[in-house]
Amino acid sequence: MRREQQEIHIMFLSGVWILAVSVTAAVAVQEKSSLPQCLPGPQGPPGNNGVPGHNGHNGRDGEKGEKGDRGEPGATGIRGAQGPPGKLGPTGPKGERGQAGPIGPQGMPGQCPPQQKSAFAMKLAKNYPAPKKPIIFHEILYNDQQHFDTETGIYTCQIPGVYYFGYNVEVYRDTTTILLMKNSQAVIGTHQTTKNSYENMSGSTVLKLKKGDKVWLEANLESNGATHTSYFLGYLIFEI
Ligand SMILES: *[C@@H]1O[C@H](CO)[C@@H](O)[C@H](O)[C@H]1NC(C)=O
Repeated sequence: MRREQQEIHIMFLSGVWILAVSVTAAVAVQEKSSLPQCLPGPQGPPGNNGVPGHNGHNGRDGEKGEKGDRGEPGATGIRGAQGPPGKLGPTGPKGERGQAGPIGPQGMPGQCPPQQKSAFAMKLAKNYPAPKKPIIFHEILYNDQQHFDTETGIYTCQIPGVYYFGYNVEVYRDTTTILLMKNSQAVIGTHQTTKNSYENMSGSTVLKLKKGDKVWLEANLESNGATHTSYFLGYLIFEI
């Protein structure tokens, strides 16, 4: 057989087949529409479970929960490097008094006079003073501190110390006794007898006086020949 003849033969067979099917389907439709109405049959058994679906999307975040209990302290960390020096601290309390130092070397000899001063020098300036009482001297040679009372003729100690006292009494007539008194006690005295001639007699001493002690000169006889050129003086040597 030739090839062209073969193809025509197949096409012919296919057309016959299609015609046959179409006729069969038309007969089936004609039979169905012609059947009487019947009751539905019992429900069939449920079908098998379907395949599980895919996972849904994540839900939204819930509300914030309450604060939890404090956790246990962690382990001590490794010691860090030493830091820089701190600030200067506040001044501490005053320390106790230290011990006395050693005694220093002896100083140079002082050249200063006593810090306080007391001196007087008086001249009688009138003849024949009253006896048995402090002799009043009428001329002041020196009495800057006024420790000698020119009204009473009494020197009163203001500065406790050691004093020099002296007198020089010129006598012209009679027998004359001069006493140097300290608080109503005769300390020294001199005695001179003349007959119309001038004689000098003097006396001096050192006295330790305390404040308030009184010193004066006194002629202790009723008659005395002390002339106006008679003197009484005293001064502080050093304080005690
Ligand atoms: C007695 O001494 C005074 C001075 O204190 C002097 O002026 C007088 O001349 C003296 N008298 C005699 C007699 O030496």
